Amino acid sequence: MFRLDGKTALVTGASQGIGRAIAMRLAERGARVIVAARNLAKLEALAEEIGSAGGQAKPLSLDLTQPEAISGQIEALPEPWSEIGILVNNAGVTRDGLFARMSLEQWEEVLSTNLTGSFAVTRALVRGMMRQRYGRVVFVSSVVGLMGNAGQANYAASKAGLVGLAKSLARELGSRNINVNVLAPGFIETAMTDEVGERAKQQLSETIVLRRFGTVDDIAAAALFLVSDEASYITGQVLNVSGGMYI
Ligand SMILES: NC(=O)c1ccc[n+]([C@@H]2O[C@H](COP(=O)([O-])OP(=O)(O)OC[C@H]3O[C@@H](n4cnc5c(N)ncnc54)[C@H](OP(=O)(O)O)[C@@H]3O)[C@@H](O)[C@H]2O)c1
Repeated sequence: MFRLDGKTALVTGASQGIGRAIAMRLAERGARVIVAARNLAKLEALAEEIGSAGGQAKPLSLDLTQPEAISGQIEALPEPWSEIGILVNNAGVTRDGLFARMSLEQWEEVLSTNLTGSFAVTRALVRGMMRQRYGRVVFVSSVVGLMGNAGQANYAASKAGLVGLAKSLARELGSRNINVNVLAPGFIETAMTDEVGERAKQQLSETIVLRRFGTVDDIAAAALFLVSDEASYITGQVLNVSGGMYI
């Protein structure tokens, strides 16, 4: 169950946090994993760690704010790394602030990384998936994209945009055996949430039905499920992994 032997996966935002955990989990299950982000040193260390555990990984330096460059970088991947069947669009950033004071730059940075960046990577890979007649695409959104959050209008808009993108792609690509789904994590302990103050964390924890914050492994397990053959009849869905923060 949940084996990915012979499959090649690309995970964005794999240099740390949730993406790193997803990449490790897919590699542990037999996939060859291209680990993409901007910080090449961290990606090389991760690829080495995966290699020494018996898996296969290849670092790819990719900046989602440079969408024109992405398809060329992906086309330049050598065999067998070029036959990518699994894509996890995980990279994302926040630039929080109250809407009345939000600058266009704050808005554009978040939209370009989270939404346009995911569009560019997915478009670069979809033709190959169509040729293979196999594909599993997961977009890492957020419960914030479903419920909204004061101070995160840009982030919520980008994450809600991923849901519309995924549902449309699911409809376009289903006949080619390409499944497209969304993961919506709640509050997961990573560098992204380290910035949240203790008082806010306490208030947040009271909104979580399971009374704990999530871990990167909680998200990695759900990502593995969505890309596995066991989920082959699931497409166009949003899977909340939030401990009941959003029901
Ligand atoms: N943590 C949470 O509670 C939570 C909740 C819901 C959803 N999420 C989502 O889950 C995803 C991962 O979050 P995380 O908590 O693991 O965050 P994180 O620790 O801040 O990691 C973000 C990742 O995105 C990459 N990234 C950022 N900008 C990039 C760019 N321009 N080009 C390429 N890669 C870029 C970073 O790598 P480099 O800096 O090396 O480029 C890093 O690997 C994000 O999409 C986030 O919105 C997180």
